[in-house]
Amino acid sequence: MARKRPYGVYIFLFLSTLSLAAHAIEPVPEHRDVQKPFGVRHGDILNDVIDNQDQPEGAESQQYVTEALELLNTIRPPLSNSRRKDSTSYWIHQGLYWLQTTLDFLFVANVPTQEEPLNGEARSAPAQMSKTLLEAENLLMRALSMKNPDAMYLLAEMNFYGNWSHPRNTATAFGFYKELASLTGNSTAQSMLGFLYATGYGGIIQKDQGKALLYHTFAALGGNARSEMTLAYRYHAGIGAPRNCEEAAFFYKRVADKAMAYYHSGPPGGHYLPRNNHKIVDEIGGTYGAGASVGHTGRLSKRNDHNSLSLIDDIIEYLLLLSNKGDLAATQQLAKLYYDGPRGLARDLRKARDLYFQLAKKMWTKDGKEVKDPSDTVIEVAAKAAGHLGRMYLRGEAVPQDFALARRWFARGLKYSDTVSQHGMAYLYEHGLAGLEKNAEKATKLYKSAAEDDHGAAQVAIGKIFYGKGEYAIANKWFELATRHGEVEAYYYLAEINNQGNGRERSCGMATLYFKHVAEKVEALQAPLEWSHRMYKSGNKDVAIIGFMMAAEQGYESGQANTAYLLDQLKSRFPLDWWRVRHSDALDEELALMYWTRSAKQQNIDSYVKMGDYYLAGVGTEADAEKAAACYTAASEFTQSAQALWNLGWMYENGIGVGQDYHLAKRYYDQALETNTEAYLPVTLSLVRLRVRSFWNTVTGGSINAIGSDPEPEKKVTVMEWLKRWFSDEKPQYTHNRPGEFADQEADAAHGGQDGDKAHQADPGHEFYGDEDEEFVENMVILGVMFVIAGLIWYRNWRAQQRDQQRRRAGQAPAQGPGNGHAPAPPPGPQPPPGFQGFDPRNNAWHVPPPAGQ
Ligand SMILES: *[C@@H]1O[C@H](CO)[C@@H](O)[C@H](O)[C@H]1NC(C)=O
Ligand SMILES: *[C@@H]1O[C@H](CO)[C@@H](O)[C@H](O)[C@H]1NC(C)=O
Repeated sequence: MARKRPYGVYIFLFLSTLSLAAHAIEPVPEHRDVQKPFGVRHGDILNDVIDNQDQPEGAESQQYVTEALELLNTIRPPLSNSRRKDSTSYWIHQGLYWLQTTLDFLFVANVPTQEEPLNGEARSAPAQMSKTLLEAENLLMRALSMKNPDAMYLLAEMNFYGNWSHPRNTATAFGFYKELASLTGNSTAQSMLGFLYATGYGGIIQKDQGKALLYHTFAALGGNARSEMTLAYRYHAGIGAPRNCEEAAFFYKRVADKAMAYYHSGPPGGHYLPRNNHKIVDEIGGTYGAGASVGHTGRLSKRNDHNSLSLIDDIIEYLLLLSNKGDLAATQQLAKLYYDGPRGLARDLRKARDLYFQLAKKMWTKDGKEVKDPSDTVIEVAAKAAGHLGRMYLRGEAVPQDFALARRWFARGLKYSDTVSQHGMAYLYEHGLAGLEKNAEKATKLYKSAAEDDHGAAQVAIGKIFYGKGEYAIANKWFELATRHGEVEAYYYLAEINNQGNGRERSCGMATLYFKHVAEKVEALQAPLEWSHRMYKSGNKDVAIIGFMMAAEQGYESGQANTAYLLDQLKSRFPLDWWRVRHSDALDEELALMYWTRSAKQQNIDSYVKMGDYYLAGVGTEADAEKAAACYTAASEFTQSAQALWNLGWMYENGIGVGQDYHLAKRYYDQALETNTEAYLPVTLSLVRLRVRSFWNTVTGGSINAIGSDPEPEKKVTVMEWLKRWFSDEKPQYTHNRPGEFADQEADAAHGGQDGDKAHQADPGHEFYGDEDEEFVENMVILGVMFVIAGLIWYRNWRAQQRDQQRRRAGQAPAQGPGNGHAPAPPPGPQPPPGFQGFDPRNNAWHVPPPAGQ
């Protein structure tokens, strides 16, 4: 156990406690009536549409739409699209915005407050529409009055997403979508209606899962991929409909088929699939920040390379430095990074191309001859560069597509058994490209060689060959190998094998999971994730949430976590807009809880902890301490979430949601510390408090299960030793045989000891003893303070009782007497942390705000 105590952590903890306390006194928002008439501005026009039933001016209205689109396409992307939040123009823009808002507030009597939550209307006042946009809108309105569906669609989209920086108005958008859906049965519009009913987004309509299911079903049968995906997820997870694996597999397969069709419509080797399916919190170190979140401290941290996101810039910089110094291996790695575009880095094919050419030049001169006596390093990097250059010519990436050149580069790489070249050449043979005869045999041989060298795409190719021959077991093996490279086609074939029961028992569950993966990998068909992340980065959270919410509805775990996280954050989004009426917080909270829940069910441990927080505090739901305890338990069972363990300890200590049990409380606190050593301060404070309470409980003969290692005064020990033992980490004797409860015991055993003290002695690596004295002094100081405070509290109570008795003697009933005679004296507990609101004699506990709410 590391005993370093970073004092920054102390300060941080202090501040977080303060902010917790501040949250605790925030009043609970009232439920707002969400029903609201829609279509303020466009309502009349909609009525016109319905009135003018007999106007068949299709061609003329289409002309208007075309003109409008021409105008719209001249509009530059809005400022908020700029990627850099820190650019000067952004801040000027922001400054002007706040200035204007403040002036509005000060001098305009009735600021038109936009009622809708979660969207950006408040930020883009209607007056800000540009002249071009107004003209275009007028044209669309004219087309609309002739019931032109395209105009209706465009207006709906503009009002919903804010395309071409049109001010957003969800109510208006809803009206147009609804009209379009009933007029033409347009599946895009139906899908949008399904989304709006499912989420109650914008607070304009009541959530209605029945209607959502209906609209999504219509849209899905009309072939809308988003709705198919949503339906599939609903049947898969049992949301708004009973769980049904067959339905889920059916709809997921429909999307997966589309996904594969899209994938194969790309250049040889398939479309490049951008990856925007990641969580916002990954960039800030997890839901609870770095340290407390599972992905960073629990067991997952070894598996997931979350840090890569923030590290990628550093890595690039470092590689650039090495590369400039002439390090060929570094240059090669850099080129690969640019070519692959890992998460957090945009692909840069031109840079990759230039670097690969640079490397290839070390080996091959202009006239195609090899240099004399190349070193091993040169051979290695140049062969890889040749393979990638061939691939770029094959696919037309940053160079014009040219099969002959591709073949030439592959041939060069092939000479040095470069796997990319083997795969590329095999592809040319398989399809008879670049003047080669089709030759399945040669192709297979090359594929095989590359596949055995762990080339993902080649493994897929080999798998497909065996699949075609009906040798499913071997095919399955190759596909499974290829999934490690994230090959989407491999997932698709695995899904098919499970779905059809090829050479094995059919498994609907496995098929669904594989199909889901395929569908989610091809993001382009579904939610505008790239757009959402861009919006989020440019500070436009309210708009970003749309795309995340859509992804969430379609079953993306990242979408669910992002939506919940943003809703969680939105509560305090603009501290300056305090004058605006706060509304619909309750709605947001309910949605946030819903998405935390869904995300948790997809194995997001931090979301489980969040769920617990919401249940404990009664945010977005009725407070339910038992459910909270269940959530924390689940979170601490899957992996060790320090936050969950600490919360559990706290619940056992106070008997909230679970039976009060000091002994178990201590176990959980200890485990929290074991999971995350950064939790040293909160855990120590909690432990001291717990010890005092447990001690008091024992002394007063309380019935609560006390901490196992209670002092035994009969034994002759000095006070110092006794106190020292009190604080030592030793494990109570009877706890280690609770089977399977504490997984970390294996770790202890591995350290060479069975029981606490022995374990520490047996392990020379423990720096426990070196620090013990310092820690002991520290603990004594804390304890001293505790006792003083306890004394003061006792004195205050004593005084109060005296006063009561005096009053009673004076014949006056006490305002709040000790009641039925056996009211327990409050324990001489330590000073309640900030945020504690008082002692509750009913359950012998302090009223505390939920632990670690955000
Ligand atoms: C829905 O309507 C819009 C506008 O008319 C059109 O562009 C789109 O293709 C339609 N969608 C379907 C699935 O018909
Ligand atoms: C409006 O913007 C959204 C989000 O980028 C996009 O998905 C949608 O296709 C756009 N609509 C139109 C009509 O361009």
